[in-house]
Amino acid sequence: MSNARKVRAYTNIALIKYWGKRDDALILPTSSSLSLTLDAFYTETAVSFDASCEKDTFYLNDKIQDEAATLKVSRFLNLFRETAGLKTPATIRSTNYVPTAAGLASSASGMAALAGAANLATGLNLSPQELSIFARQGSGSATRSVYGGFVEWQKGTSSADSYAVKVDDADWDIGMVVVVVNKKQKELSSREGMKQTVTTSPFYSGWVESTAVDLVNIKKAIRDQDFEQVGEITESNGMKMHGTMLGANPPISYWEPDSVVAMQLVRQLRKQGIPCYFTMDAGPNVKVLCRLSDSQKIKTAFLNYFNEEQLIISGPGSDLKEVSL
Ligand code: ADP
Ligand code: DP6
Ligand code: CO
Repeated sequence: MSNARKVRAYTNIALIKYWGKRDDALILPTSSSLSLTLDAFYTETAVSFDASCEKDTFYLNDKIQDEAATLKVSRFLNLFRETAGLKTPATIRSTNYVPTAAGLASSASGMAALAGAANLATGLNLSPQELSIFARQGSGSATRSVYGGFVEWQKGTSSADSYAVKVDDADWDIGMVVVVVNKKQKELSSREGMKQTVTTSPFYSGWVESTAVDLVNIKKAIRDQDFEQVGEITESNGMKMHGTMLGANPPISYWEPDSVVAMQLVRQLRKQGIPCYFTMDAGPNVKVLCRLSDSQKIKTAFLNYFNEEQLIISGPGSDLKEVSL
């Protein structure tokens, strides 16, 4: 374990969603997306290569993982091993400071942290851009978790130019209140859900068309630090993504009754003059985009319907980084 070094990567929540691949193997998306990295949720991962081991071993939250979960990580590590000319088995130790597979983007922080740790363990010394391309092949949303702030994943024309770029440091008054409606593992993974949507939803072409327009408009709004405009586009884009899912066959919905309660509360708060906007991913949890300076007030309003533990305030997170073991 002497060569183990640990990397922390933060999750990110898309304001302009990625929902569909044009290449399943390389994870190339049908559209570009844009997210805000969050400092309250992250993954820490260490990778060590050890020639005395027979095969890869993967511990998540101190629990040894089964063959299927380990295989996913092994395949991803092979990308690094092939590039570095290594065949050595690895021990992977990862801790999620985010619920796993619940629609809170554990695959984003998880795969980005794994990419960062593999980069250090192999000594490949990849640039952030190369790291983003590697992370992408673990999970699409992980492409963006290499950077902090507002991040765009440019869909590109091939694997070589489908990576993330930082759009803005988000060092202004913006953040999220995350409403954890349910942190259990979802029944339908993002991967399966989006595949089913791309192949069966008659709304899918409309989604691809309109998300491209949303992206242009939100980038301008971010440049202008126009919070209301950023929020309106975010809420609308998220709802359109869920609309394409409803059109899939069989139809897909990740919502729960409390998701709707949270969305209604956001609309109500807006009517009362507090600017805030919701977005949801492939899970029942609701993320409320707000001015960080309003977040406590919003949390207090949510406490009428949810418990303290279900409400997490987060500011913008930073780039992935090495942390001490
Ligand atoms: P989420 O909404 O949490 O991103 P997904 O269905 O997209 O849910 O992805 C969950 C999958 O991400 C897990 O089944 C696992 O394969 C992977 N994952 C999550 N955390 C980690 C981690 N720390 N290290 C490696 N892979 C991870
Ligand atoms: C709804 O990145 O989890 O959160 O690429 O198959 O691993 P894979 O899927 P994943 O999908 C994320 C979908 C989303 C929107 C987003 O994060 O952009
Ligand atoms: Co995911």
